[in-house]
Amino acid sequence: MASQKASAAKLAEVAGQAKACTRCPLYRNATQTIFGEGPVGAKLMLVGEQPGDQEDIAGHPFVGPAGKILDRALVDAGIDRTQVYVTNVVKHFKNEPRGKKRLHKKPNRYEVEVCKVWLAREVSLVKPGLVVAMGMTAAEALAGRPMTLARERGKEIGFDAGQRGMVTVHPSSILRVPDRAARHKAYAGFVRDLKQALKVLQAA
Ligand code: URA
Repeated sequence: MASQKASAAKLAEVAGQAKACTRCPLYRNATQTIFGEGPVGAKLMLVGEQPGDQEDIAGHPFVGPAGKILDRALVDAGIDRTQVYVTNVVKHFKNEPRGKKRLHKKPNRYEVEVCKVWLAREVSLVKPGLVVAMGMTAAEALAGRPMTLARERGKEIGFDAGQRGMVTVHPSSILRVPDRAARHKAYAGFVRDLKQALKVLQAA
């Protein structure tokens, strides 16, 4: 479709602009901007918090440990990742150097607010049928209000700007569950939410 081609070209242009982003100080400690990836016209958009250490080095979203969980959950939910647009609210890895390590730091409200301009461009050009926020940072940024994950996960809600949305856990939260049985349960809940996202899309 000609208009999808134009949107894809525009999205590539926007990604190029984001590479030079200095809207907040996070670019100083990061290797590069990690923009979203996936096809324009993707029915499903998945939004995380920010790239992690491995994403920052590789230059792609969700390729580290959280990405591996996401990949497995997508397969288990019957979703092809190549047909999904995957991105983050914040496009630079916020970290604090600690010896040879870089510790992940949660982005603050200001960093989320100024970075949201890129996510808004992604949503308007990809035009997904459903945006799934993974974790509280993405959920609150997209909903524009405080959220209670346990109450609102797995069902369709309206995001800011009228976008159809859904909220689920962040895949890295599954990795942090210490007990094996509880971790299985958390993973199963994540897969269930992704399956529900498919159902919502199919019912539209
Ligand atoms: N966590 C995120 O929120 N996004 C990534 O891309 C990787 C880990």
